[in-house]
Amino acid sequence: MARRRQLYEGKAKILFEGPEPGTLVQYFKDDATAFNSQKKGVITGKGVLNNRISEYLMVRLGEIGIPTHFVRRLNMREQLIREVEIIPLEVVVRNVAAGSLSTRLAIPEGTRLPRSIIEFYYKNDALQDPMVAEEHITAFGWATPQDMDDIISLTLRINDFLGGLFLGVGITLVDFKVEYGRLWENEDMRIILADEISPDNCRLWDAKTNEKMDKDRFRRDLGKVEEAYQEVAKRLGILPEAGTRDLKGPELMQ
Ligand code: TMP
Ligand code: ASP
Repeated sequence: MARRRQLYEGKAKILFEGPEPGTLVQYFKDDATAFNSQKKGVITGKGVLNNRISEYLMVRLGEIGIPTHFVRRLNMREQLIREVEIIPLEVVVRNVAAGSLSTRLAIPEGTRLPRSIIEFYYKNDALQDPMVAEEHITAFGWATPQDMDDIISLTLRINDFLGGLFLGVGITLVDFKVEYGRLWENEDMRIILADEISPDNCRLWDAKTNEKMDKDRFRRDLGKVEEAYQEVAKRLGILPEAGTRDLKGPELMQ
């Protein structure tokens, strides 16, 4: 394969220049971090599974009319995506109390929330992604009030759809994080779903036992991390053809 230009390396993914203008290649690594990179590790096979899981969820979301950056999967660890201008927000939706919400407000983990709650965090590693209000977002120009209306309505649709999809395979969608980007088409701008949706950025609990099937297994040293990601893929019906044998995938080529 020809050498490609690397544009950006994040904690779990690398972005390369795409084959045609306006596209990028998104490469999924096995690296895992938590607590703003204070904890680092490798979850073998995670990149292969997250590439599949994110593909599956983005395609399903596309089918109900949610615009996404996903174009097609290229191989075990890579997908072709549309290049967008990332809005510097982490948009978190919560259905059940867990994680930082439970810590901050002393709400026991597992408490069903009276309604879904959306929170915004400013994407800035140096500041450790602080929580912000819409007031900060619009005052500092990270997004306009119209952008925020679009982001909130897309996020609620995504939450409703994914909540049902996961429940159908015996998984409770406790919370998750999404990111959006601006896509310019001539003079028009649309906000589309970007980044990834995978057990790295969702809390997924077995609907019967509440067993954790997501990155909290890594964050909290609960063990069986790979197995949990595999189980999510298996329930969604998308384990790689060759099964778990195949999870290492090809080496990174640049
Ligand atoms: P939190 O409870 O730690 O605030 O996390 C809420 C959700 O957002 C959870 O599903 C994990 C996800 N998340 C990310 O994807 N990236 C992050 O940097 C953080 C802090 C959370
Ligand atoms: N991905 C974030 C980090 O490294 C946090 C997390 O997912 O817990 O630091």
